[in-house]
Amino acid sequence: MSRLYNATMIKATITGWGKCMPPAILTNSDLGTFLETDDEWIRSRTGIAERRISHVPLGELAYVASSRALACAGLSANDVDLIVFGTCSMDEQVPNMASGLQKRLGALNAGAMDVNTACTSFLYGLTTASGMIRAGTIRTALVIGGELISPLMDWHDRGVAVLFGDGCAAVVLQATEADEGVLADRLGCDGDVREILQVHGMGQRYANKGWHLGDSQWIFEGQEIFKRAVIGMSRACEAVLQTCGLSPADIDLVVPHQANLRIIEAVVKRSGIDMSRCFVNVQRYGNMSAATVPVALVESLEEGRIKPGATLLLTGFGAGLTWSAHIVRWGQRITPLGESDVQLPPCQQTALERVQALISLKRGSREIA
Ligand code: UT7
Repeated sequence: MSRLYNATMIKATITGWGKCMPPAILTNSDLGTFLETDDEWIRSRTGIAERRISHVPLGELAYVASSRALACAGLSANDVDLIVFGTCSMDEQVPNMASGLQKRLGALNAGAMDVNTACTSFLYGLTTASGMIRAGTIRTALVIGGELISPLMDWHDRGVAVLFGDGCAAVVLQATEADEGVLADRLGCDGDVREILQVHGMGQRYANKGWHLGDSQWIFEGQEIFKRAVIGMSRACEAVLQTCGLSPADIDLVVPHQANLRIIEAVVKRSGIDMSRCFVNVQRYGNMSAATVPVALVESLEEGRIKPGATLLLTGFGAGLTWSAHIVRWGQRITPLGESDVQLPPCQQTALERVQALISLKRGSREIA
């Protein structure tokens, strides 16, 4: 069910944003050097031209993105009450990613939790944090969407290896009495078809069965996922528009999950919104799972696509199959209050060299759990 957070309530508004993209670029032609694929197939089926391959752990990408988001909001790490880290590709499971970030930032007053709903993890995290702000439990949250897919990829499977990339972004959410921020949200899940997107090799089920860390086998029914994604996101978008009493014409910008340009076009068309009011960067980064929406949000601001007071529609889908939509009314500020000088360490390898190194690390025979 979708619910309207009305004008008299405390709301959660986005006051800081920052991204951290690994610099190494893997092009479609690079993929063609070790997979039976080509630029034309990848571009025409997905819209993707290139993606990033990280040379650092996810925690490092998140530290840089979060430092930038906090500087943008004009806050220090001490001001944060809660860190919500959306990811399914954590550097380690115990302790969680959020606690590592809490330590690295020195956010000593913050609670720290991870959320894993695959590609919608940032969006589910946005609902979690904004709900706690509305409830009065916290006043300031840092919400991260980040993934390091490359070490978990089956680089021998052209059906999935061409689709994904690494990246991270973060937002700061703060309590406000103004009529802005997250106005409505709708979360859903088609658990009945959860088998159509699985990554074998991740989780206890695979322990002691001959799997090595980083081995993976992707079960990926592309066309079925495509259909479910379009239906789920369209349903969620319709629900939040209705909840807010908005028409498609009231949406200034759609910031969707970036998995496939054709999926984005189908959802936007079904929602009755013109593609000129949709932000697309899938060509640059491919599917970064939980990172796509926050990175797209940051780049929408960098490119001047979000005006003060703009009404945004965020939507996503992911393994589970989870899906969601949010209506977010932007505040008056569209520029950062400050900048962080935190940077990633330099990258010594090309993306192709990095992927070749990952491929040579994969080994072993294994049984399917
Ligand atoms: O965030 C959630 C993640 N999941 C998704 O977003 C996936 C949603 N699905 C999709 O985006 C699309 O279904 C794909 C991009 C995965 C595939 O596009 P498609 O138009 O549904 O292609 P297809 O699966 O029907 O494959 C068409 C052909 C097949 O060959 P045959 O059987 O027709 O001879 C594939 O073997 O394309 C072949 N193919 C490739 N060819 C060149 C599959 N992958 C590749 C490749 N390069 N990388």
